[in-house]
Amino acid sequence: MQDILDKIAEEMALRTDRGKVADYIPQLASIDPDQFGMAIVLPDGRQFSAGCADKAFSIQSISKVFTLTIALGKIGDAIWSRVGREPSGDPFNSIVQLEHEAGKPRNPFINAGAIAVVDAIMMGHKPKETLAEILQFVRFVANDESIFFDSRVAQSELLHRDRNASLAHFMASFGRIKHPVENVLGAYFHQCAIAMSCTQLANAGLFLVSDGMNMNTGVRVVSPQRARRINSLMLMCGHYDGSGEFAYRVGLPGKSGVGGGILAIAPGKASIAVWSPGLDDIGNSKLGTEALELLVQHTGWSIFGH
Ligand code: DON
Repeated sequence: MQDILDKIAEEMALRTDRGKVADYIPQLASIDPDQFGMAIVLPDGRQFSAGCADKAFSIQSISKVFTLTIALGKIGDAIWSRVGREPSGDPFNSIVQLEHEAGKPRNPFINAGAIAVVDAIMMGHKPKETLAEILQFVRFVANDESIFFDSRVAQSELLHRDRNASLAHFMASFGRIKHPVENVLGAYFHQCAIAMSCTQLANAGLFLVSDGMNMNTGVRVVSPQRARRINSLMLMCGHYDGSGEFAYRVGLPGKSGVGGGILAIAPGKASIAVWSPGLDDIGNSKLGTEALELLVQHTGWSIFGH
């Protein structure tokens, strides 16, 4: 396993076309694109890593997997009256479908869907308590109390909130957002601003590898049925309008973020996190996808076989 990872990291170091770093906020635009890290955690807790796997980066949309899991825990299937579970085929921050579909986002992983999900989590909470709940859950699944919000990233998202604010207000106009939009956005920007390393992220994904149970800590996080369903949503919607391409090339449930991270789950086999800040045209990590493609070629871990 370590040999495979080292080979992948060596190959990635040679790549000259590394994609383009997200530039919609200065905090992401200033990140050095030459970085690459990858971590793999097996169900028994054995860990392998290469490159800068211990450097914290902004997990951005990968947080949507965790907030969906929290929302399912709180309101169960009632979440599906607030968001759908179909691929959108549109960019992550698109607004067009919302008008045709009465303000109900296609799935929980596009921005509109994640905003609706965090609004659901806020029920019965003060905004600060919601932030604490999200961070506490991520620390719990990662089994790591050191994970934190990067408040500069959250602040910067707030300053550049026009598109996400539009999505939230548009949904609110259909009566689909229950809390003040500013509070919902504050929670959404904080979840996106969680900073984690590949090692922490791979550990946080472990419960999705073994039917909802973190085999390393012995803690059950969700039922087997729920883990299967979250994985299937990641496969179909985790890379926005690039989800088909990711399934074709990698064939694993995966969730990307504009910080350049990807969490990929090989059910029964491993939790994998990869980070390289350069993005492709759709907003998914370019080298991250290429590294995962190499990994499944070496391991045969794609859910679709070799
Ligand atoms: O809402 C945004 O625009 C960002 N904070 C997160 C989006 C994101 O990561 C989409 N990923 N590819």
